Amino acid sequence: MDTVRSRWYRLLLPTLLAVALWVGVRALAADSSADVHSASPLPSSPDTASSEMIVLAWNDLGMHCYNRSFQDLAVLPPYNSLRAQVIQVGDPPQVITQGITVTYVFTDNTYSALPKSNFWLYAQDLFGLAGPLAPNIGLTGKGLVGTMDLHDDHFVAEGIPLTEFRDGAPSTPYPYQLATVIVRDASTNQELARTVTVAPVSTEMHCEYCHDDNGVADDDIATGVVEQNILTLHDEENGTTLMAGRPVLCAGCHASNALNMAGNPALPSLSKAMHDKHAEKVHPGMTGCYSCHPGPRTQCLRDVMAQQGMDCISCHGTMETVAGNPNPWLNEPRCDNQSCHGSGYAQDQALYRMSKEHGGVYCAGCHDSPHAIAPSRQPNDGLKFVALQGNPGTLSDCTVCHSSLPSGAGPHGTLRFKSCLPIVFSAY
Ligand code: HEC
Ligand code: HEC
Ligand code: HEC
Ligand code: HEC
Ligand code: HEC
Ligand code: HEC
Repeated sequence: MDTVRSRWYRLLLPTLLAVALWVGVRALAADSSADVHSASPLPSSPDTASSEMIVLAWNDLGMHCYNRSFQDLAVLPPYNSLRAQVIQVGDPPQVITQGITVTYVFTDNTYSALPKSNFWLYAQDLFGLAGPLAPNIGLTGKGLVGTMDLHDDHFVAEGIPLTEFRDGAPSTPYPYQLATVIVRDASTNQELARTVTVAPVSTEMHCEYCHDDNGVADDDIATGVVEQNILTLHDEENGTTLMAGRPVLCAGCHASNALNMAGNPALPSLSKAMHDKHAEKVHPGMTGCYSCHPGPRTQCLRDVMAQQGMDCISCHGTMETVAGNPNPWLNEPRCDNQSCHGSGYAQDQALYRMSKEHGGVYCAGCHDSPHAIAPSRQPNDGLKFVALQGNPGTLSDCTVCHSSLPSGAGPHGTLRFKSCLPIVFSAY
C-alpha cells in the first residue's frame, strides 16, 4: 500500500509542477499579448481559416546597439533589420514571395527623433550625407512604419532607425521592442497573416565605467563628458585631432563590416582596435563583454544555451580571440562546429543568420535570432511561437506549416509529431 501511495505521489508532484508551469507560461503569454493587442492584435487562434498563410519574422541580429548621444562620437547608428518569410500552409507547404505585400509597424514606438535620440542633428555630418536626413528616417530610407522589400526568398526591412524608447515612456529603456509584421494580398489589400517579433535595441555601453572624469583609463582627463574624455585620450595616444572634428564616426577610420565601411586600410578594424586595446583592461569573463555590449541591465544573451550556462566566451572566445577575427561580423561562431552541434545541423552559409534548412526555411525562422535561440528568457521573444504552436520553444509543430502531419522526416532529418503540449512537459 505504502509503496503504491508514494509512487502515486511521485507522479502527482511533477504533474502539478508541470501544470503550474504551464498555467504560468499561458498567463505570461496572455499578459504580454494583451499588451500587443492594444496596438496590433495577433490572430486569436492559430487554427482558424485565416491561417492558410503564416509569416515567420525575426531580427537579423540578437541585439543592436547604438549610441545614446551622437554629439561627440558614433560607434553605431540606430539601425535594426527585420526579416520575414511567408509560408502557404499546405501539403506540401510553400514559401511565397509573389502577390503579397509585407509591412511592419512597432507597438507604441512611432518616432525616434528627440527626445528619444539626437541622431538626426548629427547624421549628415557623421555619415557625410549630401543633405540632412529627414527625422525618423534611417540611413537606408526606412522609417518606423513601412514596407519590407523582397530579397529572393524572403522579405527585409534593412536599417530601421529604431530606438529603445516607447512613446509612452520616452526615457525608459525597453530593449525588447515589438514589431508587428503584416502580410496582405497585393491586389485586394486583404490581410492574410501577421506576427509579432522582437526588434532588440539598446544603448547600454558602459564606457563610463573607466572613461569617467579622472577614470582609470583617463588619469588626468576630465572634460565633464565621457565621450570627450575618450576622444581626448585617443588624440593623446595616437596624435589624432578627433576633439577638433566632432562628431566623430569611429568607422570613418577603423573599418566596420557592420556599417559596410572600409575605413583606412592601414589602421586596425574597429573590432580589432577595441578588443585588442581593452584585452587586459576588462574583466576576463562575460562581465567584461557586458561593459561594452548590452549589458548587465539588458542581458542581450538570453537564449536557451545561456540558460544552460554558456556565456560569450563559450562561443566567441576571449577578447584576444575576438581581436584576432580576420573578418569581423562576417566570420562568427557556427552551430555546426565539430565541438558544438556538428554536421547533423549543417549551416549552408558561413553565417547562421543567412542559413536555411528544411524546405528553404531560414534557421532563424524556427530557432529565432542569434543570442535569442528559443526558448528565450525574454517573454517577448516567445510571443510569436506561442501564437503559432502554443509554446515559446523552437517552431517544432509540423502542422503549423503542413496541413496534415507529414509521414517523411522533418527538420534535420528527424521524425517528429505535432506537439500539443508546452515543452516544459518533455522534462518529465
Ligand atoms: C573596464 C574599463 C574600460 C571600459 C569599460 C572601456 N574602456 Fe576604453 N580604455 C580602458 C583603458 C584602461 C584604456 C587604456 C588607457 C591607456 O592605455 O592609457 C582604454 C583606452 C581606450 C581608447 C584609447 C585607445 C588608444 O590608445 O588610442 C579608446 C578610444 C577607448 N578606450 C574607447 C572606449 C569606448 C568607446 C568604450 C565603451 C564602448 C570603452 N573604451 C570602454 C578601459 C576601459
Ligand atoms: C581620423 C581617423 C581616426 C578616427 C576617426 C578614429 N581613430 Fe582610432 N586610431 C586612429 C589611429 C591613427 C590610431 C593609431 C593606430 C596605430 O597606432 O596603429 C588609432 C588607434 C585606436 C585604438 C588603439 C588601437 C591599438 O590597438 O592600439 C583604439 C582602441 C581606437 N583607435 C578606437 C577608436 C574609436 C573608439 C574611435 C571613435 C570614437 C576612433 N578610434 C576613431 C585613427 C582614428
Ligand atoms: C571596450 C569595449 C568592448 C568590450 C569590452 C568588448 N567589445 Fe566586442 N565590440 C566592441 C565594439 C565597439 C564593437 C563594434 C565594432 C564594429 O562596429 O565593427 C564590438 C564588436 C564585437 C563583435 C562583432 C565583430 C566581430 O569581431 O566579429 C563581437 C563578436 C564581439 N564584439 C564580441 C565580444 C566579446 C565576446 C567580448 C568579451 C570577451 C567583447 N566583445 C568585449 C566593443 C567591446
Ligand atoms: C551559443 C553561442 C553564442 C554565445 C553564447 C554568444 N554568441 Fe555572439 N554570436 C554567435 C553566433 C552564432 C553569431 C553569428 C550569428 C549570425 O549569423 O549573425 C554571433 C554574433 C555576434 C556578434 C555580431 C553581431 C551578430 O549578431 O551577428 C556580436 C557583437 C556578438 N555575437 C557578441 C556576443 C556577446 C557580447 C555575447 C555574450 C553576451 C555573445 N555574443 C554570446 C554565437 C554566440
Ligand atoms: C522548420 C524548422 C527548423 C528549421 C528551418 C531549422 N531547425 Fe533546427 N531544429 C528544429 C527542431 C524542431 C529541432 C528539434 C529540437 C527542438 O525541438 O528544440 C531542431 C534542432 C536543432 C538543433 C539541436 C538542438 C539541441 O537541442 O540539441 C540545432 C543545433 C539546430 N536545430 C540548428 C539549426 C540550424 C543551424 C538551422 C539552419 C541551418 C536549423 N536548425 C533550421 C527546427 C528547425
Ligand atoms: C516553418 C514551416 C515548416 C514546419 C514547422 C515544418 N515544415 Fe516540413 N516543409 C516545409 C516546407 C516549406 C517544405 C518544402 C515543401 C516543398 O517545396 O516541397 C517542407 C517539406 C517537408 C517534407 C517533404 C515534402 C512533403 O510534404 O512530404 C517533409 C516530409 C516534411 N516537410 C516533414 C516535416 C515534419 C515531420 C515536420 C515537423 C517535425 C515539419 N516538416 C515541419 C515547412 C515546414
